[in-house]
Amino acid sequence: MATVHHACRFLLGCWIFYARLAEGAFRREDESDYLADYDAILAASYATSMPSAATSCVHAGQAPQELGEACVLSVNTTATSAQELCSGQCVCVVDEGVTLTMDQSLDVVALVVKGKLLWDDVSQTAAEQWLCAAYVTVENNGTMRVDVRSEEKRAYIYLKDNGVRHEALGHRALGGIHSSRSAPGLPLLEIAGRTLRRTWSLLAATVTSGVSSIRLMHDAADMGWRVGDRIAIAPTQMQSKGEAQWFYCMGINKNEIELAADAGLSIAGITDQKFLGEAHTRAEVINLSRNVVVTGDNFTLVACDPAGSSAVDCACDTNINKAHCTRGLHVIMASEGEHSISGTMRIRHTRVEKCGQRGTVGR
Ligand SMILES: *[C@@H]1O[C@H](CO)[C@@H](O)[C@H](O)[C@H]1NC(C)=O
Ligand SMILES: *[C@@H]1O[C@H](CO)[C@@H](O)[C@H](O)[C@H]1NC(C)=O
Ligand SMILES: *[C@@H]1O[C@H](CO)[C@@H](O)[C@H](O)[C@H]1NC(C)=O
Ligand SMILES: *[C@@H]1O[C@H](CO)[C@@H](O)[C@H](O)[C@H]1NC(C)=O
Repeated sequence: MATVHHACRFLLGCWIFYARLAEGAFRREDESDYLADYDAILAASYATSMPSAATSCVHAGQAPQELGEACVLSVNTTATSAQELCSGQCVCVVDEGVTLTMDQSLDVVALVVKGKLLWDDVSQTAAEQWLCAAYVTVENNGTMRVDVRSEEKRAYIYLKDNGVRHEALGHRALGGIHSSRSAPGLPLLEIAGRTLRRTWSLLAATVTSGVSSIRLMHDAADMGWRVGDRIAIAPTQMQSKGEAQWFYCMGINKNEIELAADAGLSIAGITDQKFLGEAHTRAEVINLSRNVVVTGDNFTLVACDPAGSSAVDCACDTNINKAHCTRGLHVIMASEGEHSISGTMRIRHTRVEKCGQRGTVGR
């Protein structure tokens, strides 16, 4: 829900929070309720489909593997050569002073960038390209730039559940760590997809069950929206009741969007809902599609480790009724030691899914 009035927005925020606690969200100690709903929660989650050629990236909760010495790329190279050099059971490291250019897809055990990784519309010649690894991190003064904005191109960063763990960032991390070996502001992780002038608009007219088009407050083409994408409509009911629903967009005529299916809205998307006496609340309509996607293997349920480090792992905690963690991927820019200095992470026009590690601190 959105409202033009800020005080009202704030209040609604609080209401939503309490309503969700009561209705579907779980507190950390509610493990048995959460587990009882686990399959349903997963079944309701959406993930972008990966290109069929990317099947080698798919893992399913593999046990930790024995890794050999790191495979270090020590001269400027392309993904084509890196794929060969890093084909063993090793963490692939782009060394200081070295640039790795992503001219094709790359599937490695894990990737650490201490030099540069460059992936843009020029380096990527195929329509679809991916980078698959247990973790992808920038370290020391490393920089990684993914900048794929062309309408014809899709880029995927796929975090594999192959059991391999980064010693500071844990499992399945996309991000970096600033340390005493880093200059201020580094390392740098930058990801940008195709620019949308607006990612969300508001309903201009009430949507009722059974209609197959909706009217927005903005011109969809002007916002950069297109046919074929996924859009979501927020529910407009008091206290966050009702569910958001998504549709594929079949046609655009200025502010009008044609939906692939009839909107079987359980609750009408109302444009002039009154909350707390405030009249202008109406449903948000959001474009969920992005051409750059951070995704990965499915969530897995892992047993807590009594010997695990609580800062990195799914450590058991006797103060909480917790025996498991849910492990998805996670995105982080961390700092070792001095917390006032950090690296830089800038992610724009990118979709991140299968994200979060319930039960692990800070994830
Ligand atoms: C690697 O490429 C970068 C430009 O991306 C260049 O500045 C650097 O000198 C090259 N290094 C070597 C060893 O060729
Ligand atoms: C990172 O850059 C800083 C400042 O230029 C330099 O002092 C430091 O040695 C660099 N770190 C590495 C690992 O090269
Ligand atoms: C949403 O944005 C994506 C990616 O930028 C674009 O390709 C797509 O066409 C848009 N979706 C809609 C419904 O307009
Ligand atoms: C993830 O789980 C879904 C639903 O169980 C399944 O259809 C899909 O193939 C799985 N994806 C991967 C990458 O394992």
